[in-house]
Amino acid sequence: MKYGLDMHLYSSFVEKVELSVKDVFLLFSSVLDYFVSGVRAHHLAVAFISFEIAMRMGLDEDKVECLTDAALIHDIGLGGVGEGTIEDPDSIELDFHHCELGYKMLKKVPWADKYAEVILHHHDTWDGRSGSGAKGDEIPIGSRIIFLADRVAVKSYAEDIASLLNVRHSVLDYVRSKSGTYFDLDVVGTFEKVAEREAFWFSLDPKVVGRLVRENVPVRNRLFSVPEMITAYTLLADIVDFKSQFTRNHSINVANLAAFLAAKANFSEFDTDMMMLGGLLHDIGKVAVPSYILDKPGRLTQQEFNIMKAHPYITHLVLQSVPKFEFVDMVASLHHERLNGTGYPFHLTKRHLSIGARIMAVADVFSALYEHRPYRRDFKFDEIIDILMGMVTNGEIDMDIVDLIAKNRDEVVYLLRQEVLGKIIY
Ligand SMILES: [Fe+2]
Ligand SMILES: [Fe+2]
Ligand SMILES: [Fe+2]
Repeated sequence: MKYGLDMHLYSSFVEKVELSVKDVFLLFSSVLDYFVSGVRAHHLAVAFISFEIAMRMGLDEDKVECLTDAALIHDIGLGGVGEGTIEDPDSIELDFHHCELGYKMLKKVPWADKYAEVILHHHDTWDGRSGSGAKGDEIPIGSRIIFLADRVAVKSYAEDIASLLNVRHSVLDYVRSKSGTYFDLDVVGTFEKVAEREAFWFSLDPKVVGRLVRENVPVRNRLFSVPEMITAYTLLADIVDFKSQFTRNHSINVANLAAFLAAKANFSEFDTDMMMLGGLLHDIGKVAVPSYILDKPGRLTQQEFNIMKAHPYITHLVLQSVPKFEFVDMVASLHHERLNGTGYPFHLTKRHLSIGARIMAVADVFSALYEHRPYRRDFKFDEIIDILMGMVTNGEIDMDIVDLIAKNRDEVVYLLRQEVLGKIIY
């Protein structure tokens, strides 16, 4: 197949992406913050407060790093629990479900296993009235710190930076009132010392805290390999796919199909891997779309469609902050663009849509139609090809890519039966 297009539309231009664990965790935190509506930069704030307490307590370097990592992803289980849940600081028992879910998600992934226990216990009360049944010293110290940091972060909302000093008294009163019941006395004592400095409170401003975490908090500098990144982003994809009861595995299907088509279109092995990451992350912006809209069987109202239309843009907002992720950002964020400019949200046309972005768009449509939805009948392979050919006729998608699917029918059908990622065929 000859595309006759410039290489810059074709290749990612970087030979390798070396993301540190910190980059990956910061990406997680920015995605997870869309779940915690009403509180901006929640995960960053919890990481910062946890770090301040842990340093004051004199925990060793390794423990501090592990704790701040865990704090950046502490609410990873929220996606499977409920809509835009802002944790209610006083519904301790109800919160256990997201801790358990987070634990299960992290347990599946070798590099994340060490955070699982801390996340499981991050809403445990010192007096043992929480879902896990643990109490006192049985609760990992990291969880005790994150629990207090989380409550402080939620209760420290202020309109502007100076007002943070006004809330500190009520936050301190709250923390002291729960000392020995919710919170470990030692952690409370340390927090009281941390809270003496005005600078600590000013640092909680959402515009400030991100920079502080990025610059000061030593999240380990180890680099992630591409396979580790793939497992990391499968976790993120799970978070999105959990949101909708009908789209389980959609991100995995798109990732598998996009990578397969990229390999068939002679992408390098590295770019093929990046296509897989792009597929996993393409719908990450759906974290900001309520489930009732994602799951709505009928036509969306104008307002609902407006919210829906924001999702690839939010994917872009999240991915553009990741170093060396320009290619992944581009292929992921442009999956609703169409060659004739009728897509959204950028209305790009053929000239500006790379082969990678075009493949992603087709992989998304194909996978969505191939997947079962309760509100419509299933489509068969040939019917989908007909629909795609109609889109080609309308000038929306690339004929060559539809051809690739049609020519590799058996492999594509086999690929979409897989519920796991992997280089199954190529
Ligand atoms: Fe939580
Ligand atoms: Fe939280
Ligand atoms: Fe999408």
